Amino acid sequence: MSADGNDSPESCNDNPRHIAIIMDGNGRWAQKRFMPRAIGHQAGVKTVRKIVEYCAVQKIEALSLFAFSSENWRRPQDEVSLLMELFMVTLGREIKKLDRNNIRLKFIGDRSLFPQRLQDKMNEGEAQTQNNTALTLVVAVNYGGRWDMCQAFQQVAGKIAAGELSIADVNPQLLNQYLSTADLPEPDLFIRTGGEQRISNFMLWQLAYTEFYFTPTLWPDFDQDALATAIESFKVRERRFGHTSEQVRNKAVTL
Ligand code: IPE
Ligand code: IPE
Ligand code: MG
Repeated sequence: MSADGNDSPESCNDNPRHIAIIMDGNGRWAQKRFMPRAIGHQAGVKTVRKIVEYCAVQKIEALSLFAFSSENWRRPQDEVSLLMELFMVTLGREIKKLDRNNIRLKFIGDRSLFPQRLQDKMNEGEAQTQNNTALTLVVAVNYGGRWDMCQAFQQVAGKIAAGELSIADVNPQLLNQYLSTADLPEPDLFIRTGGEQRISNFMLWQLAYTEFYFTPTLWPDFDQDALATAIESFKVRERRFGHTSEQVRNKAVTL
């Protein structure tokens, strides 16, 4: 407890503006129950609903969920097909509800490899919710951080070749504008459930200064209380962005 009897930490953050989550552990959740992995993925969808609802209530600006990585194609074909089907059914069910709740849906990742009807559904979901102003729900599908950086480099290189940009214009701010997350604040809080402590090719560029939170809780068991705990842990961290702790505490710098 500090001298003034107040045990609140010296440095406090507001709610994160952008939370990015690797939803991991569906398969193990099911296997622990001697059930097929598919059941774990279905249970994971229920968690998504709860977490989206909580973020909307908490007035979080953006929630990014890693749903399918560019490496997940390596899984057995039947699991990949099942995930596509689950994705399709969930989208069909949820778009209207998201829209009613003023939530904007946005997909990031290379969607060209998905079945056409799924791509149509994704486009429809984005179009229907594009003017919504509460939470932005970003779903990363066939997403990879390396892919995102490459597609940004390709766009920039194209502009340089066309004479619209010069090599000297290339800097972090410029590249940021070509990433799939250009219209969003950088993630403040990154959460990975399921116990692994790795990024698995998620937002490599965007996570440069994000606060990391790892929990062994499997995604289907993650709930609103668990998210509230993660947010509390974020709030008491001191973000320094290269400054000293003293500079931050004396509010001598703008972060
Ligand atoms: C995350 O859960 C969901 C996806 C990658 C689609 P996993 O399916 O990776 O679950 P574990 O890691 O095998 O338990
Ligand atoms: C990362 O989870 C991708 C998603 C949650 C969609 P994985 O379970 O596929 O990650 P690795 O392969 O164990 O690193
Ligand atoms: Mg996993």
